[in-house]
Amino acid sequence: MERSSAGFLTRSARRNRQPLSQILGTWDFYGRPFRVTSDTLTPRPDTETLVELALAEPFSRLLDLGTGTGAIAITLLAERPEVTGLATDISAAALDVARHNAQAAGVAERLTLTQADWFAGVEGRFDLIVSNPPYVDAATYGTLQPEVTQWEPSIALTPGGDGLSAYRVIAAHAPAHLSPGGRLIVEIGHDQGVTVARLMRAAGLADVRLHADLSGKDRVISATSP
Ligand SMILES: C[S@@+](CC[C@H](N)C(=O)[O-])C[C@H]1O[C@@H](n2cnc3c(N)ncnc32)[C@H](O)[C@@H]1O
Repeated sequence: MERSSAGFLTRSARRNRQPLSQILGTWDFYGRPFRVTSDTLTPRPDTETLVELALAEPFSRLLDLGTGTGAIAITLLAERPEVTGLATDISAAALDVARHNAQAAGVAERLTLTQADWFAGVEGRFDLIVSNPPYVDAATYGTLQPEVTQWEPSIALTPGGDGLSAYRVIAAHAPAHLSPGGRLIVEIGHDQGVTVARLMRAAGLADVRLHADLSGKDRVISATSP
């Protein structure tokens, strides 16, 4: 029997623990396809909780910090045709992927993509700031599957240490970049809710709330401008 070379290559890649999303080069998020490479985190279903929450209230000017494939920003712009946005990442390679995905989704004209270290160089105020930052602590990162640690960029998953450094920066700088009444919505690890909520309150953010994902675990924190 003739052997399919595509099938052989896929099996060989999986034996090397390459994630299926990277073998296929595309993965669906919120019903849309996104290009995925080894420079980007594969969008996770858990992140759709953040998207649902963002869409629950109106907004017109979006900032997405650490955009990766652009999954969050592109989805929000595709769902809300009147919205414009800025999406940043520290990784130039990830931004190239996000640029491709924004074109493919037809939102490129409404989305500016910029290389930045969190808020550094970001100007202006936004009525919605979202982020799914790297949040895995150093000890837990060492226990993750090879599909994650060998193939996805570590910078997308862990900031090292206690896993909280991105939240410290985001909480500290968000008040200066939120419009009056603007919302901050961030994804968190299931056991980080209490600590990240405390960071946000300490930064002066108001109405800090925890939200669960579909499996009932704390997954998202929202807050509003002081
Ligand atoms: C967990 S991934 C999220 C990707 C995408 N937003 C998503 O939800 O699928 C975190 C992203 O933050 C970016 N990142 C890491 N450190 C950063 C920093 N200091 N400033 C800006 N972005 C950073 C990574 O390159 C990565 O794309």
